[in-house]
Amino acid sequence: MDSTVGAPQGVIPARLLHGQKALVTGANSGIGKATAIGLGRAGADVVVNYVAGREAAEEVAAEIASFGVRSAAYEADVSQEDQVVAMMDRMVREFGTIDILVANAGLQRDASVTEMTLAQWQKVIDVNLTGQFLCAREAAKEFRRRGVVPDVSRSAGKIICMSSVHQIIPWAGHVNYASSKGGVQMMMQTLAQELAPEKIRVNAVAPGAIKTPINRAAWETPEAQKDLLRLIPYDRVGDPDDIAHAVVALASDLMDYVVGTTLYVDGGMTLFPGFATGG
Ligand code: BGC
Repeated sequence: MDSTVGAPQGVIPARLLHGQKALVTGANSGIGKATAIGLGRAGADVVVNYVAGREAAEEVAAEIASFGVRSAAYEADVSQEDQVVAMMDRMVREFGTIDILVANAGLQRDASVTEMTLAQWQKVIDVNLTGQFLCAREAAKEFRRRGVVPDVSRSAGKIICMSSVHQIIPWAGHVNYASSKGGVQMMMQTLAQELAPEKIRVNAVAPGAIKTPINRAAWETPEAQKDLLRLIPYDRVGDPDDIAHAVVALASDLMDYVVGTTLYVDGGMTLFPGFATGG
C-alpha cells in the first residue's frame, strides 16, 4: 500500500518534531507505517516496530531515513513483556531516549460469539490491550526518568493509543476487538489522569474505516465500498495518512494542552449516520 495516497505534498511541517524520538508499534504496514513515515517527515527519529515482516519494516525505516532523520526496525511482539522491555532498553541505548510512543499494533480475529474460541478472544486482548499497556508502562518509566527537556518539548513525553470507533460503537461478530478497544479507551483515560502531573500526555486516536490490510474486504470491491460509505457521512473511505496527520499533530506541542482526549478521525462514522434520514 502506498502510504502517501491522497496526501497533499508537504502537508506536514518538516521540523515540527525535530529532535524527538518516536516508537511506533506495528509500523510495517497500514496505519502504523503511514504514522511512522509521518513522524519522520515531521523531523522525529523513528523506531519502526514489527512482529513479522522484517523486510517491509526495513523498507519503512529506509524511507524514513531518506528524510535525513534516524530510523531503525526493531522486532518485538508487544504482547510479550520481556520483548517489550528489551525493545525499550534497546531504544534508550541506541537512540538515547523516547519522547513519543504510538501504541498502534493491533489485529482482528473475527467470529460470531458462539464460534469464537478462547484463543481468538485472548489473542486480540493480548495484542490490542495488554500490548498497549506494556508499551505505555515502559515508555512512562523512561519519560519519568528523563523529565521535561524544554528544548525538545513542553511535555515529558507523549503516549498516543491507537483505538477505533469501536471503542464506542458495538460491533457484532467482533466482540473481542470491540472489547479490546473499549478497554483502550479507559486505559488511556486512566493513564492520562495518573501521568498528567508528571507532564506526560496520554491521548488516543480513534480511526474509522481506513484503507488498510485489516479491513480489505470492506473496501476492495465497488459493492463493498458502497455499503461502507453508507456508514460515513463524509463520503470517502479514509487513507492511512489521515491517521498519520492526526498523530503528528497530537504528538506535537501544538496540542500541549490536550490531555486524555480521543480524537476521532472517522469521516463522521460516530455521528449515527443511520439517523440522517430516520429516527
Ligand atoms: C476496524 C476495521 C473497520 C473500522 C470501521 C476499525 O477499527 O479495524 O476493520 O473497518 O474499524 O468499522
